[in-house]
Amino acid sequence: MKSRTKTKTRTLAAAGLCAAACLGAATVRARDPAADAQRQAGLEMYRAAVRPLLEKRCVRCHGGEKIKGEFDLTTRETLLAGGESGAAIDLKRPSESLVLALLRREEKPHMPPKGDPVDQETIGKLAVWIALGAPYDEAKPLADAP
Ligand code: HEC
Repeated sequence: MKSRTKTKTRTLAAAGLCAAACLGAATVRARDPAADAQRQAGLEMYRAAVRPLLEKRCVRCHGGEKIKGEFDLTTRETLLAGGESGAAIDLKRPSESLVLALLRREEKPHMPPKGDPVDQETIGKLAVWIALGAPYDEAKPLADAP
């Protein structure tokens, strides 16, 4: 009787150890260093070039004062949801994103509709940001909802 209890205890201890180890492994996998580095690079690009562009040239018509073309780019969720023509960005084929074609004036409607076209260097940075998964800085919302 006594020895059986001991065996049971040992089995339970082993199961406990395994659970801890497996959970540990899952946590390590969730914090994939490559994904972390990619997100970090994307955030840096967002802060340096993308956010200033969106704030200066896009937000007033797309999520700030108004939402034109049913396209709100003030959050990652609404950006991914796209507008009346469908997806504005393509995370799987970033270079084929609609938003890049509109900014490069390869497709209509040209964006922004008025003023100087966005320079190629900034469009290139936007493309890199999309390729890095288009992360937003959640701690600093782009604009209040209209
Ligand atoms: C002066 C207002 C205005 C500004 C500024 C503006 N847009 Fe637009 N945008 C529009 C309008 C209006 C439409 C819808 C046009 C249409 O469907 O013919 C549109 C449509 C779009 C669409 C297509 C949405 C869809 O699904 O049909 C995208 C993508 C877009 N804009 C991106 C941008 C980006 C990026 C910027 C900043 C670089 C920008 N826009 C700046 C007015 C604006």
